Amino acid sequence: MNEAQTIEVEVRAIEQITPLIKHFTLAPAGGGSMPAFSGGSHIVVVMRGDARIHRNPYSLLSSPQDLSTYEIGVRRMEESRGGSHFMHDRVHVGDRLQIAHPVNLFALDKIARKHVLIAGGIGITPFMAQLEDLRAGSVPYELHYSVRAPEHAAFLPRLLERERANVRMYYDSAAQLIDFDGLLSNQPLGTHVYVCGPAGLIERVIKTARDCGWPDSHIHWEQFSAPPVGDAFDVFLARARVSVHVQPDQSLMESIEAAGVEVPYLCRGGVCGFCQTRVLELDGELIHNDHYLSDADKAKGTSIMPCVSRARCKSLVLDL
Ligand code: FES
Repeated sequence: MNEAQTIEVEVRAIEQITPLIKHFTLAPAGGGSMPAFSGGSHIVVVMRGDARIHRNPYSLLSSPQDLSTYEIGVRRMEESRGGSHFMHDRVHVGDRLQIAHPVNLFALDKIARKHVLIAGGIGITPFMAQLEDLRAGSVPYELHYSVRAPEHAAFLPRLLERERANVRMYYDSAAQLIDFDGLLSNQPLGTHVYVCGPAGLIERVIKTARDCGWPDSHIHWEQFSAPPVGDAFDVFLARARVSVHVQPDQSLMESIEAAGVEVPYLCRGGVCGFCQTRVLELDGELIHNDHYLSDADKAKGTSIMPCVSRARCKSLVLDL
């Protein structure tokens, strides 16, 4: 993915739908239709701030059958390094933004006999589009949607209007918890489970499904990590022959891009593996924050995912 492959869009509508989530509607700036996508796809939104450019992934929640606009939901992250605050505070109706073409890293399995969707908070967004695909098909499905309290249940009116029979709500404020064991131990053979939301929810679903004997091929999850802040460090890019200083609140990938060197990416959230980069020299330690490399690969220290990972080191040389 590079800048030449982005699409210019106009912000058509912005709605504050929960205390923390804004709903954005984006239309093609030059008219016409948006590129086709399937439920579970995400886009990367390019945000040009005063001092730096943010590129954040957001799931598409609009119907894949309606390409007149794209819709995304953006949660204000208190720990944000700027991206979600930019979307909440600086973007207005009528503004133009660049987005990357949709990519699906969280697709529905085509031969599943049943789909069980489990969402926590803002994790509802990819399911909104998947539900549109599911409603048009004949495979049974159900959605379990957990939020802190009723006022945090984003898109609930739309869900109830279209999916009342297939949705079950759980409110932490009413001590309503998903019974993961009961849910995952009683599904017909060939069922696939999908989970999106906070890390604890994803870990719980994966562990319970495995304990119940589900094969990994039937367990799907999506969790884009935001690159965490950390100590500043310096990197040398061996092929470009460029030195890069990574600020505490800047990701390694953003720093490399700011120096004019492109790193391939799809998710910018530590999931897709596209940005995997060889480490040529290291005096110090890598801080791996991705969900892609195995523990053994992380321990070897010969690869890094610059979208979310960083280093605590005296020197680092990358094969870029
Ligand atoms: S861009 Fe997907 S893992 Fe880095």
